[in-house]
Amino acid sequence: MSSWIEVGKTDEFVKGAMKEVVVKGQEILLVRVGDNYYASDNRCPHMGGKLSLGRLDGAIVTCPRHGSQFDVTDGNVVQWLKGTGLLTTLGKMFKSPRPISTYPVKLEDDRIMVQIPDSM
Ligand code: FES
Repeated sequence: MSSWIEVGKTDEFVKGAMKEVVVKGQEILLVRVGDNYYASDNRCPHMGGKLSLGRLDGAIVTCPRHGSQFDVTDGNVVQWLKGTGLLTTLGKMFKSPRPISTYPVKLEDDRIMVQIPDSM
């Protein structure tokens, strides 16, 4: 089971905006790419960096901590950790790439609604 929950209004988001919203006690990253809105986990699956404090380029969000990148439209990993040094290599060995969870979004007039599983 899941429910649709209002997380904001469309006039709060310019194109390219991203914001953290808390739904059922969980941090959700809400972004606007063009005229579309996407919702995903806000915490990076590497070591918990807040993606909402990172950078958004098109549909790609970059984690502010170690540079992993995710596609906000499907949660897939674009790049796992940034760099080629020893620490990055060790980091990749100990924690393999994991996508972020994404959640359905719909608009009801100017209300942005996110579908969140009831178990969250
Ligand atoms: S916490 Fe996000 S890349 Fe390390």
